[in-house]
Amino acid sequence: MKLIRKGMRILHARTLAFLTLAAAICFTAVACSGGAESQATGGIKPELVADYIHTALASDRTAYTKHVVNRAKKLEGKPKEKGVLDIEATEAWENSNGIPLPAQMFRLGSEIASEDGAFTYNLISPWYINDAQGPKNEFEKKAMDAVIKTGEPYKEMQEVGSKKYFSALYPDKAVAEACITCHNTHPIHKERYPDKVFKMDDVMGGVMINIPLDAA
Ligand code: HEC
Repeated sequence: MKLIRKGMRILHARTLAFLTLAAAICFTAVACSGGAESQATGGIKPELVADYIHTALASDRTAYTKHVVNRAKKLEGKPKEKGVLDIEATEAWENSNGIPLPAQMFRLGSEIASEDGAFTYNLISPWYINDAQGPKNEFEKKAMDAVIKTGEPYKEMQEVGSKKYFSALYPDKAVAEACITCHNTHPIHKERYPDKVFKMDDVMGGVMINIPLDAA
């Protein structure tokens, strides 16, 4: 009888040890699913990091358009309704006394940000005016096609060389009449894409954000 009880106790202890081990494995599995990705971004999901970055970029571009470009008296040679500053917002800002267009301001920032190589972002479009802003590889082409089709952001992991990235492409839509007038009448646009006439709310391109996952 004593022997049986002792046997039961050992069995009990083993079952308990087994269950503890199983629970530990389960916990590790749950904690690690997506853990490798978020480790590189300090425990925050890369998807969320990309959303935050995008919000900051989009807000800065809108603020620059609203509070700087809109105060200029001229936009690409044409007088502006509510302009108060005797200045022109123009693509040729470097060769005149002008200020950059919002897309150029965005690119200038992206060039500075990519200098330290931590992560990169840029504005791309299949109907690009600036040659540096066409979709560069199969991934960007695939993402751009998806965003044009759905009007929604496209997010996926990609490998470039041996490096892993979390990449997200956010739609850049024609939210103002000025977007479509300026692009549709731009000499480069007219020459390259004579059949592409943007309408309001069209996806004109996208903001690509690449977050390296092996950086940490
Ligand atoms: C006054 C003219 C003008 C206006 C207004 C304008 N753009 Fe652009 N856009 C440009 C030029 C010029 C470039 C190329 C800039 C560069 O050299 O990086 C450009 C670049 C872009 C690009 C990157 C692809 C490319 O063509 O090189 C996208 C996407 C884009 N614009 C979308 C928009 C949207 C959306 C709006 C409205 C919110 C807008 N643009 C308003 C002139 C304009």
